[in-house]
Amino acid sequence: METQVKFSKKDKVAILTGAGISAESGLKTFRDNNGLWENHPVEEVATPQGFNRNPRLVWKFYKQRASQLKKVEPNPGHYALKKLEDYLENNFNLITQNIDELHSRAGNKRILHMHGTLQFCICTKCGKRYKMGNIDLDEEIPKCKTCRAKLRPDIVWFGELPKYLDEIQSIMKSINYFIVIGTSGVVYPAAQLLQIAKQNRVYTIGVNLEVPLNMKYIDEFHQGKSGEILPKLVEQWINIVKENS
Ligand code: APR
Repeated sequence: METQVKFSKKDKVAILTGAGISAESGLKTFRDNNGLWENHPVEEVATPQGFNRNPRLVWKFYKQRASQLKKVEPNPGHYALKKLEDYLENNFNLITQNIDELHSRAGNKRILHMHGTLQFCICTKCGKRYKMGNIDLDEEIPKCKTCRAKLRPDIVWFGELPKYLDEIQSIMKSINYFIVIGTSGVVYPAAQLLQIAKQNRVYTIGVNLEVPLNMKYIDEFHQGKSGEILPKLVEQWINIVKENS
């Protein structure tokens, strides 16, 4: 489908990304493997109950994710969004569900990690936050340097409240375009943002390998791999304006 959109520098745009945008970097998505995330049921490794039951296993799992991240690179989809931010500047807002840092490694600055990132962990008792690089990852269950309680990855697990909800709400009120990329539309409240955008009469665009669950709220859908589609789309979104202006 041809895009109907040309962005002027005054357009206010929010992007929501999910695991699909990092798939071409070699990171597995969540729902392509019978509900298993890297061979683990999500309840085991992505819920507070799973952590309480077996913190050793959960830490082992996230240490593996962190070392896997060191071996992957942003792909052309991530770089296309960096180009879009360079063009839209402060009118660009990137909301991501991903806990990888591939958007920031591609150069994006205006990012809200609504499900946290693998870069930080937090004390389960006193709430002190640490950079992953500043704790002793040789410990099976890393401990808080202040109160010695267990640390946990600062990631939003199932049943927990996503971060930055106030900021996201005010972004959703301010935009005139909303773009969703590489997300199945299954997990709330992220999945609801499309519906909110439509209620606010915002033009919505989707880029996804498969048809997402909330497809009915998408005005313009581009089916395929984001690493292939986004570079072309961003060219069209920002170049058409330059030609016509
Ligand atoms: N390009 C674009 N889309 C892709 C690609 C690709 N190369 N590869 C896969 N996809 C699509 C899939 O078709 C799927 O619709 O990306 C989507 C990924 O969906 P999920 O695996 O459900 O990931 P996501 O939507 O990010 O999950 C949301 O669920 O487990 C929790 O907290 C976790 O943030 C995560 C949340």
